[in-house]
Amino acid sequence: MLVDVPLAALAGLPRAESAPASGRTFYLETFGCQMNVHDSEKVAGVLLARGYRPTTDPERADLVLYNTCSIREKAAQKVFTHLGKFKKAPEQNRSVAVLGCVAEQEGERIFDRAPWVSLVCGSASYRRLPELLDRLEAGERRVTGLGLDVDETFETDVTRRDHPFRAYVTIIEGCDKHCTFCVVPSTRGPERSRASGPILAEVARLAAAGYTEVQFLGQTVDSWRDPGPPGLRFSQLLLAAAQVPGIRRVRFTTSHPRDFGPDIVRAIEDCPAICEHVHLPVQSGSTRVLERMRRRYTREEYLETISLIRSARRPISLTTDIIVGFPGETEDDFALTLDLLERAGYDGVFAFKYSPRPNTPALEWSDQVPEPEKSRRLALLLERQRQIQIERNRKMIGQTLEVLVDGRHEARGQWTGRTSSNRVVNFTSPATDLLGQYTQVAISQAGPNSLVGEHTL
Ligand code: 5AD
Repeated sequence: MLVDVPLAALAGLPRAESAPASGRTFYLETFGCQMNVHDSEKVAGVLLARGYRPTTDPERADLVLYNTCSIREKAAQKVFTHLGKFKKAPEQNRSVAVLGCVAEQEGERIFDRAPWVSLVCGSASYRRLPELLDRLEAGERRVTGLGLDVDETFETDVTRRDHPFRAYVTIIEGCDKHCTFCVVPSTRGPERSRASGPILAEVARLAAAGYTEVQFLGQTVDSWRDPGPPGLRFSQLLLAAAQVPGIRRVRFTTSHPRDFGPDIVRAIEDCPAICEHVHLPVQSGSTRVLERMRRRYTREEYLETISLIRSARRPISLTTDIIVGFPGETEDDFALTLDLLERAGYDGVFAFKYSPRPNTPALEWSDQVPEPEKSRRLALLLERQRQIQIERNRKMIGQTLEVLVDGRHEARGQWTGRTSSNRVVNFTSPATDLLGQYTQVAISQAGPNSLVGEHTL
């Protein structure tokens, strides 16, 4: 969802009056991961630069866009439910567009299923959006931007960021890992790293516009390699970004265990501005399952990586993704995943039931786990993890933590923000305007998913 914030990034754009779509409105809704959220910020920037104005009412928008997710079946289905509401769009002279992973996955089949859709565009084709929008505006009915034959990233200087002080920055797009459960290589294409020059220039522009936190994004962010001189490593890029004047926090997500090296831990240890949080999806605690998933590491190798993280001089919070009920996952395999939860002591877990996806090898496998069994395993895992998080968060009571304030609950009289470790903290304060500020909060209570405290002045 877009919120109205100062459009710092739009300075210098063509005036709306002279743009092709002057006066037309767009509604853009986003599903899925942070990459999608950030892609939508870039798409919104392109639309604004053409003279479109944002609206929060899909019923009144001239152009309705859904930026879609197909990581699991449910997410992909949701889009078609939404699309069903716009059958009359063409006769009302309105256009409907499907962007993102469902667009790439389903391609022109979307026109068969929802003939009122007139633009289908995958993320690897966003560079072509101006041309595709020209054709749409000229009245063409079935415009497509599909195909993954790309070796570039989507560079635009008109990004319309939703958040006033925390900014996403794409550093690597696509994925080459080809895990047997995952659609990403077929929806986002091959891995492409952006050069360090443009990345650091973007960080400097963001700092100049008042942003203090940047979050580097990539499906496998730590496999970033500088394609040009000076040939930085990922950890060196983190350090360079942290040195940009005005930048107080540098985050990054999502790391792949195979690419995660000790130099990243060292960078976090040495540089307070690099956030003390690593999101390191394990997917399963069983080497047998990991092999079938084609994750390219064993349980033991993963445990070694997390012991490296856990032994850092700075406490680093660790979160993960887990899939339960992957084809062939036995009760013993699942027990190994539960055991890994204990050993890792995660600060947060996103857990999912395996969902068979098109264009992935595991879809065809005959040893699928029955749905009720997947549900049982998921519930067990989440309950165990809930206890672990309560225990871990309770250890924060009595500490004073720095929080970047990003919201206010009027009804509860509380501010909310995040620590460097990415924990949510709700707190009271006599101050009247804290948004965007870094404040010291004394922690007094802890739940599984958040902390409560008081602002120490
Ligand atoms: N089924 C269930 N979960 C999946 N994920 C990716 N593909 C699937 C799938 N087919 C999960 C993984 C990944 C997260 C973003 O989504 O845990 O890390």
